[in-house]
Amino acid sequence: MNPLHWPVRMHIASVGVSKFCFLFSLAFCGFLLLLIPALQPPTRQVDLPQPRPQVRPARSGPSHNARVPAVSVHAGETDPTIERNGSSAGQGGSIENEVTRTDNHIPKSGTDSKRGALPGGQVAGRSGSKPRDLLELRDIFIAVKTTRKYHKSRLELLIKTWISQAKEQTYIFTDGEDKELRMRTGANIINTNCSAAHTRQALCCKMSVEYDKFIESQKKWFCHVDDDNYVILPSLLQLLSSYHHSQDVYLGRPSLDHPIEAAERVKSDGSVSVKFWFATGGAGFCISRGLALKMSPWASLGNFISTAEKIRLPDDCTIGYIIEALLEVTLTHTHLFHSHLENLQKLPTDTVLEQVTLSYGGFENRRNVVSIVGGLSLAEDHTRFKTVHCLLYADTDWCPKLKPHHKN
Ligand SMILES: *[C@@H]1O[C@H](CO)[C@@H](O)[C@H](O)[C@H]1NC(C)=O
Ligand SMILES: *[C@@H]1O[C@H](CO)[C@@H](O)[C@H](O)[C@H]1NC(C)=O
Repeated sequence: MNPLHWPVRMHIASVGVSKFCFLFSLAFCGFLLLLIPALQPPTRQVDLPQPRPQVRPARSGPSHNARVPAVSVHAGETDPTIERNGSSAGQGGSIENEVTRTDNHIPKSGTDSKRGALPGGQVAGRSGSKPRDLLELRDIFIAVKTTRKYHKSRLELLIKTWISQAKEQTYIFTDGEDKELRMRTGANIINTNCSAAHTRQALCCKMSVEYDKFIESQKKWFCHVDDDNYVILPSLLQLLSSYHHSQDVYLGRPSLDHPIEAAERVKSDGSVSVKFWFATGGAGFCISRGLALKMSPWASLGNFISTAEKIRLPDDCTIGYIIEALLEVTLTHTHLFHSHLENLQKLPTDTVLEQVTLSYGGFENRRNVVSIVGGLSLAEDHTRFKTVHCLLYADTDWCPKLKPHHKN
């Protein structure tokens, strides 16, 4: 009709268009909603990293500065502050907080510790086919305990054999200066200044220094052996690779077939007794860094000696006491570690190189050695360590070139 008509019609038309748009977008949204559930699961599987079930995220919590040592005996030492660089170094932060918790009260054996210590699990490929930890030999701190009088008769053999393959990470803890040996072999020899006596106090003194040096080293695993042990490094690496160093792991051979019983003098007055397993030191044992850090109230900076004095037990028992009785983490029993107290001849020859540690009988039992055949006779190699070494590292310069028909 008149000029008014056009805008009105346009208005009506635009209402029609936006109604259509509205309906269309509603339908489109509905369609999208239907699609989302179908799309989601695969996206999730791709995006989410596989979480390590053993690692507990423990971000919150008091800072390490607020830490208060729980054991009252060491009133003089306030804060051991062992992990100064804590949170900056990988798992450090969470471990540190776990230690903090440990300081205030003893943790219940949660799923974490249970999983870390399946009894009987040796190279337990638990819950996965891939190794848990991309572990290298240099991540392992190996402590060898010896005494001055065995530097020649025992230590030199170790330095010549397995220690030569792990020179950087092996530390020899002794009780006397031997500059000549240090210069000649280039070995890491630490004079603990502990007494040379074979007493509980002297042995615990050395263990205490070993512990502190390990914490200082920042390495992932602590392994202790004696000066009559051969460490089969590839087996050790394989065994530890099936765990993660932030788990609570205590691996070794129980020396008895039952737990030891002792009067509880740390948590109580000694009127009650406590039962726990411990790994025999003579066969060697390993402790993950995560667990070692939790031990610090009872093990660091000399506290190990006072803990051992309280329960009046040797060094290896005290380790077991701190881990099993105080921290409630169970020993993972393994039969891959061997001491001179066993009948070593019984080890099947074809499994010798799969073991983690070996030993040999002392003067009183010189025939107690592993039965293994190689290019060296019993007269040349009464401990069999050289033979084992030459089978593992055939290109070693002093190893005989194996002759097919050579008999021992
Ligand atoms: C802490 O980190 C500093 C530099 O980041 C380093 O020089 C120092 O050695 C570290 N300390 C420890 C105990 O790792
Ligand atoms: C042992 O004593 C020497 C000399 O006093 C010292 O340099 C060394 O650091 C001490 N060793 C330990 C582990 O304390």
